[in-house]
Amino acid sequence: MTPHPWSALRVDGARLLQRLHDLGQFGALEGGGTNRLALSDADKAARDWTVQQMRDLDMAVQVDAIGNVVATCAGREGLPPVMTGSHIDTVRTGGLYDGNYGVMAGLEVVATLRAAGVRTRRPIQVAFFTNEEGARFQPDMMGSLVMVGGMPLQDALHVQAVDNVATVGEELARIGYAGSAPVGAPVVDSFVELHIEQGPVLEQQGQQIGVVEGVQGIAWMELRFSGTSNHAGTTPMALRHDAGMCAMRCAAFVHNLVACYGGSQLGTVGALQLKPNLINVIAQEALMTVDLRNTQAAPLRQAQAEVLAFAQRVAHENGVQLTHRPLADFEPVAFDASLVDGVEQHAHALGLSTLRMSSGAGHDAQMLARVCPTAMVFVPSREGLSHNVREYTAPEQLVQGANVLLQVLLQRAQR
Ligand code: HGY
Ligand code: MN
Ligand code: MN
Repeated sequence: MTPHPWSALRVDGARLLQRLHDLGQFGALEGGGTNRLALSDADKAARDWTVQQMRDLDMAVQVDAIGNVVATCAGREGLPPVMTGSHIDTVRTGGLYDGNYGVMAGLEVVATLRAAGVRTRRPIQVAFFTNEEGARFQPDMMGSLVMVGGMPLQDALHVQAVDNVATVGEELARIGYAGSAPVGAPVVDSFVELHIEQGPVLEQQGQQIGVVEGVQGIAWMELRFSGTSNHAGTTPMALRHDAGMCAMRCAAFVHNLVACYGGSQLGTVGALQLKPNLINVIAQEALMTVDLRNTQAAPLRQAQAEVLAFAQRVAHENGVQLTHRPLADFEPVAFDASLVDGVEQHAHALGLSTLRMSSGAGHDAQMLARVCPTAMVFVPSREGLSHNVREYTAPEQLVQGANVLLQVLLQRAQR
């Protein structure tokens, strides 16, 4: 590790926690938690507040055509910057830390440098990316995916929301974040994302910092079964075209497939809507999603194919129509080995225990990894909870992670 003169520098924990608390007011849920769906009014309010925090830190702020926000803290030399950041949109039952923590910790790094009068050789950028969650508009990691050229801008702008007919483009314009900066792969030295683990591993193994080596593959699909609504009491089973039963058999198939595959295979049916959704009416339509994940590409592809083949078979057997479409499709990603080593070394230099691991959740880092050396730093999640209003990471753990980020960014920005 090329040493830098600020290895004793530390973040101001109180200031970091205050920003996290203040950001949490936007989309705050009664009783705790956050509902800040991408491009909603709550997302706009949080964006406006975060941009103001960036400007208060004398950072130059740019908004691109998909609404990604990148703020720059100037360096001594006009070299490619070191970038950090994450997202500030949440799922409908989100917590305070998923995404938000990485953006606020990035701002805390800049605030710490400003307070110490430190000007690094390279600029340091703090970004938040549009629609990382993919809860309201698919796919997830949309903003960073478009930024690195993985999805055409126009395709993204035309994606319709799941909760109404608004498109990404319409919502960006409505909240004032259809930016003028062109989308395009950033010319950066590296990208480092700090994030809560969102799983139970660090807590179970009693480790303080997750040294993330990569992100598992993600395959999302939407299945729409269209059958015939009919009377639940007069229609013989053999004469039914039951869209609901097809969907539920598919959900059971996903569950059994994961058990058969074992290993790191995961399968989730998170959304299932029946129409007309009435106790005594055979479902005319069933709309469902399937979320498949695996650290290995081959079994993930195999699982995708098997689920689709089963859906087609069960629809055919029941005289039901099936339409399907992919909603996200991302190969597993490996992060930059030397940057990953740097995360581990800086955590140890801070006296923190570490565990090398793969990320179960998707992150913007997996997109930035397509265009620059990238790594992630994890801190523990209590009971492994996330996408849950009870998401929690202890203050001292949040501060420890931010200090690792500070040191990693300082080293990269001095290169
Ligand atoms: O789905 C994910 O893994 C991420 O939270 N978007
Ligand atoms: Mn996240
Ligand atoms: Mn998330």
